[in-house]
Amino acid sequence: MQDTMSVTVIGLGYVGIVTAACLSSRGILVYCHDINPEKLSAIRNGVSPIYEPGLEDLLRNAVMNGRLRVVEDPAEGISRSSYTIITVGTPSLSDGSADLSQVFSAAETIGKCLRSLNQRHVVVLRSTVPPGTTIGPFMNILESFSGKKCGLDFGLCFNPEFLREGSAVEDTLNPDRIVIGCIDQKSGEELLSLYRALHQEQLPPVIMTTPTSAELIKYANNAFLAMKISFINMISRLCEKLPGGNVDEVAAGIGADKRIGPYFLKAGLGWGGSCFPKDLRALRRIFLEAGLKPHLIDATIEINDGQVEWVCRLLERELSTLSGKRIAILGAAFKEFTDDVRESQAIRLANRLLNSGASISIFDPAATINVSKVLDGKVDIAKSIDECLENADAAVIATPWPVFRSLTPEKLREKMKGKIIIDARRIIDPKLFESSEFRLLILGSYMESRRE
Ligand code: UGA
Repeated sequence: MQDTMSVTVIGLGYVGIVTAACLSSRGILVYCHDINPEKLSAIRNGVSPIYEPGLEDLLRNAVMNGRLRVVEDPAEGISRSSYTIITVGTPSLSDGSADLSQVFSAAETIGKCLRSLNQRHVVVLRSTVPPGTTIGPFMNILESFSGKKCGLDFGLCFNPEFLREGSAVEDTLNPDRIVIGCIDQKSGEELLSLYRALHQEQLPPVIMTTPTSAELIKYANNAFLAMKISFINMISRLCEKLPGGNVDEVAAGIGADKRIGPYFLKAGLGWGGSCFPKDLRALRRIFLEAGLKPHLIDATIEINDGQVEWVCRLLERELSTLSGKRIAILGAAFKEFTDDVRESQAIRLANRLLNSGASISIFDPAATINVSKVLDGKVDIAKSIDECLENADAAVIATPWPVFRSLTPEKLREKMKGKIIIDARRIIDPKLFESSEFRLLILGSYMESRRE
């Protein structure tokens, strides 16, 4: 028996859990499933398995009013709902390509359920997959396990997501646009009616396209954003060499051109996280497999990798050697307002400095538990900014948490041994340091050569 407007979500990572919570907050009944039992039990108790502003309130309400139900067996949800949304992970394989094993295993599960289902069902793939996956292997698995014909007996769409960690709820409830790659008009209209229920009068622009274009839109979107950041980081290096150079001013100047736009032009230590690095590697492989050269993707990755090296060399120049030096790293998450340290530039910086013989103390306002998982035993994990700065020869701001703006010469003087501060996220007001004994080096601002 099907419930009205009900959805099953398979895979409760960032995208899955936020999608489930947002849909249920608008009165849609959501069954959610994941292979990780700990995650399921947290959600069942209304506890969010991830740190994400606004998510836990939505979850708790949805669980309490019965709009969000955890299912151990995905078939329990699929048989009672009209849509299944797949949001399982597609991590990198060693050659950079996307590992689709979780996607295919979900397709098998859904296919088996479809076999005995008498009602219409729409399968919505939302995991990031290489172009051709939806209408190729994914559809084949669904058809062979269900014994049914896609389009005729069930609907199928690829529907990329564009939510950012740290603002995932807001991005899901108010997206710039919705991209629906549908196998046929009917499937597209069916998915659109789910979005109408979610967004009601505020339905954003909808782009209906083929599944293959929609798959490529997702990769191209992330690659373009990463390219913008690497571009401004390239300009940033030049600004450091030019008296009066300031990359924020350049970014504001070019960003005011509507054709360029002001977003993703914040220079700094570079991009990280669970999406950009993985998706750029995968897109690079897709180009190579198509016999094409991924020039801009290569340059985008190279510049980003170089940012960590850039800061290391700066420190080495200022401290003469890294060996035996104590470096305080402020920030570990791949960006502010998240506890996620996956492929974080701050963590890469810590590892790089450790390899050069430095000792590291690191502090992050939210990511302590995750830092201990990736760096435990190798660094000192501080519980406060003060503890992190204790006896440091140099300090580096590696994640732009607003709390680091409060650093002043007075505060640093009390704790630090050395006088070198590198603001690798451009959040400190240089005026505060103007007449102090500290040497504040801001990535992307002119750096006077070292006073001997
Ligand atoms: C990114 C995309 O922005 C989302 O649209 C997409 O849905 C998501 O990947 C995904 O594929 O799931 P996210 O990784 O959460 O979202 O974070 P972003 O806000 O895009 O930041 C990525 C990295 O770029 C961070 O390390 C951030 O510090 C850095 N960044 C961002 C900059 O260095 N400069 C900027 O101007 C913007």
